[in-house]
Amino acid sequence: MFLFVQKGELQHIWQDAYINDIEGSFDAMRTYLPTNVSRILDIGGGMSGISVPLCRAYPGAVVTIMDGSDDAPRMLRQDKTFSSRAAAREFLAANNTPCDFEVKGKYDLVLSLRAWCFHIPIDDYLQTVMTHTYNTSRLIVDVRVGTPPPFKVLAVVSENSKCQRLAMSATRK
Ligand SMILES: C[S@@+](CC[C@H](N)C(=O)[O-])C[C@H]1O[C@@H](n2cnc3c(N)ncnc32)[C@H](O)[C@@H]1O
Repeated sequence: MFLFVQKGELQHIWQDAYINDIEGSFDAMRTYLPTNVSRILDIGGGMSGISVPLCRAYPGAVVTIMDGSDDAPRMLRQDKTFSSRAAAREFLAANNTPCDFEVKGKYDLVLSLRAWCFHIPIDDYLQTVMTHTYNTSRLIVDVRVGTPPPFKVLAVVSENSKCQRLAMSATRK
């Protein structure tokens, strides 16, 4: 996989680590991905590097990133979110990955890697996820050890000492 990262945007060591991380994450989750995906929601997505291979796997798909701000003081305060939307926009545009930041309608795939259910409390976005998914939607979420998974678990995609990356179904009774 090739990712275009602007020189100076990240240190070289970070570039390699980030690309390796994305490749590994995508390889591990591909078995658990749905057949058809046109809309992806990435909660706490940061630069949303994972959406690069995802949007290549699903041509025409668009990712909505629920994160970040273009307001520098707010990013510096780190009181709620601290990613730069401008950086994510630029990074994803350079990788031909369509993105927006407005959460609306329904999503086929919801991701949250190292964010919701990990350091963002479940209750902060549970209703949002329920509102914006179909019964058939798939979730891939890093759930911190000791935190109850918010939806029906289909599989453990990967795990480490801090969390399990779970594939879940958004099916409601
Ligand atoms: C550890 S980073 C993970 C970024 C990305 N998912 C990844 O795996 O590379 C956590 C992200 O959560 C975002 N974040 C923190 N609090 C948030 C909140 N309340 N709502 C949305 N995003 C939040 C941060 O801006 C940051 O981009």
